[in-house]
Amino acid sequence: MKFPQGFLWGAATAAHQVEGGNINSDAWLLEHVDGTVYSEPSGDACDHYHRYREDIALLAGLGFNAYRFSLEWARIEPEEGEFSLAQLEHYRRMLAACHEHAIKPVVTLHHFTSPRWIAARGGWESADTALLFARCCERAAKHLGDLFTTVCTINELNLGTVLQQSGFLHSDDAIVGSRWRRAAARMIAVEPEMFSSFPFCVRSRSRDVLLEAHRRAAQALRSTVNCAVGMTVAMFDLQAVPGAEYIRDRAAAESQDLFLQAARADDFVGVQCYTRQRIGTRGLLPPEPGAEFTQMGYEMWPDAVQAAIRQANAVAQVPVVVTESGVATDDDSRRISYVEHVLNGIAQCLREGIDVRGYFYWSLLDNFEWLFGYGPKFGLIEVDRRTQRRKVKLSAEWLGRTARNNEI
Ligand code: BGC
Repeated sequence: MKFPQGFLWGAATAAHQVEGGNINSDAWLLEHVDGTVYSEPSGDACDHYHRYREDIALLAGLGFNAYRFSLEWARIEPEEGEFSLAQLEHYRRMLAACHEHAIKPVVTLHHFTSPRWIAARGGWESADTALLFARCCERAAKHLGDLFTTVCTINELNLGTVLQQSGFLHSDDAIVGSRWRRAAARMIAVEPEMFSSFPFCVRSRSRDVLLEAHRRAAQALRSTVNCAVGMTVAMFDLQAVPGAEYIRDRAAAESQDLFLQAARADDFVGVQCYTRQRIGTRGLLPPEPGAEFTQMGYEMWPDAVQAAIRQANAVAQVPVVVTESGVATDDDSRRISYVEHVLNGIAQCLREGIDVRGYFYWSLLDNFEWLFGYGPKFGLIEVDRRTQRRKVKLSAEWLGRTARNNEI
């Protein structure tokens, strides 16, 4: 099936996972504290900070027409109120490189990491952070806005709720009392309860701050630039066994719908989905016997993406962009069959009349997968971290050809 004209075919990255050397960020700090939950530090990552030209040229050469990447707040505003023109200029060069290669940039303003000074004043648990974030977005928009086409404010602002619901994170009390949180606070000389970092923030304190930050950032962008603005939402295909529908609906309402409803005021909603979750009358169920798993331990379930698109469309009632979908595997032919399955699901959504505007594979490069370090291989392009040499995988060529033909 032919995809609509202008459909965005891209790959995605996030600054901290590829740029390297992000020493002013709270993530760098957490990677180095006593009792860290990260399996290794991010170090030079893929040195995308210096090699973005080559990477963007590779993406364009393969046949893609879009690239999603994020700006690093800790670089742009390394200390409160001190904006770095040099770093803004760096991102301007990156945006210009996209345009030179006919690649539409989709810029994310916050992808999990914040400056240390934000983490030291309560992070996303403190109401002021919404204002400070919006101020930085406005500053970035003034400097870069003429090159923006599509902007995502905050990546997965429902992340904390989703992680807790899935059992990946402990309770709010366990986070507050954790050894690494106390160690991080000590390293930057603040009281332990003042230190807070986005992926591990206390949900009850941060949810409204995040929603307010999105609203204010979107407002700041709309008053400064003419571009499409939205948020991205982490989604699972939540499947209830018979009798557990009400539990599934409650989980969906809390972890997804609340955020999708906030997206109604936006130009689009970004859907990010990696697997399904089965729910029984007593909560989460393990995958069925015989299930196949990715390197992340997720059940391989490419149909989850079409289910998430339908859900996002029904609740948010705005166009959908699949801002992340991908699979961590060493078996590149499995990557191809997985993505082909996802794309057939998107084609089905389009046939049903859902306005899906784009598909961004996660990720362009094998990169720093947060707590898992460099183990999981999501990339379309392999990176030798000793030499930083790139090697294009067959899946990249296949997806690039599909993008060029605009057809599955
Ligand atoms: C995040 C990415 C991450 C990916 C794979 C998404 O939730 O936005 O930063 O690498 O999942 O785990």
